[in-house]
Amino acid sequence: MRTLIAGNWKMHGLQARLGEIGAITRSIVAHPSAVDVLVCVPATLITGAVQAAGGVLQIGGEDCSAAEAGPFTGDIDAAMLRDAGATSVILGHSERRQNHHETDAIVAAKVAAAWQHDLATIVCIGETEAQRSKGNALKVCGDQLAASLPDMPPGARTSIAYEPLWAIGTGTMPTREQIAEVLGHVRAALDLRFANAAQPIRILYGGSVKAENARAILATPDVDGVLIGGASLRAEDFDAIVEIARGRSAG
Ligand code: 13P
Repeated sequence: MRTLIAGNWKMHGLQARLGEIGAITRSIVAHPSAVDVLVCVPATLITGAVQAAGGVLQIGGEDCSAAEAGPFTGDIDAAMLRDAGATSVILGHSERRQNHHETDAIVAAKVAAAWQHDLATIVCIGETEAQRSKGNALKVCGDQLAASLPDMPPGARTSIAYEPLWAIGTGTMPTREQIAEVLGHVRAALDLRFANAAQPIRILYGGSVKAENARAILATPDVDGVLIGGASLRAEDFDAIVEIARGRSAG
């Protein structure tokens, strides 16, 4: 399984920030490796980012509509993401679930649309602090996983990102044991549901990933990569994590 290092810029970035994409791209060219590197950017930056990435670095979107072209003011569909040059999309991020009231069913419909348009998907799940403290983390994540994937064979290049809400942007991290427990649960559920087709599905961890903790996270059982928010905004910070992943895949 190739390691995936994915960035999520969220609602950050004007055109001037595309220089960071250029810098990340140059670093990948200078250090070829078996690590897959993706940066998901706001829709306004996709075309420019794809140009700056020169086919070396993958560029993705941060959401797409479940619908096809139609009267949906402000929405962007999966075909539009592909048309702009994106190869991937993040779906069901907790910020969209919370701020845009996206239910598991809505997320599943979006995933189906993305799979139909051959976009690699990163489907996010994760529990709140209250859910974890009540001992419900595994159940919440298992239920979200089951209901956020559509009833069809998984699209190529599908990833599941476990992002506990209390770890996003807080600097607070689950222990490696906690990460391994949830990821093991996710892996078992995927195997049960999709049998052999589950094998290529990558499972990522996200939430306060930085160069300082990336080595330990990437060495945790069942972790196939990471989804990075804040530390993906500057090439220097992001490259440091890619560098750690390179060492992992070489070793
Ligand atoms: P931070 O890395 O900033 O905690 O964000 C994680 C995240 O939400 C990535 O999707």
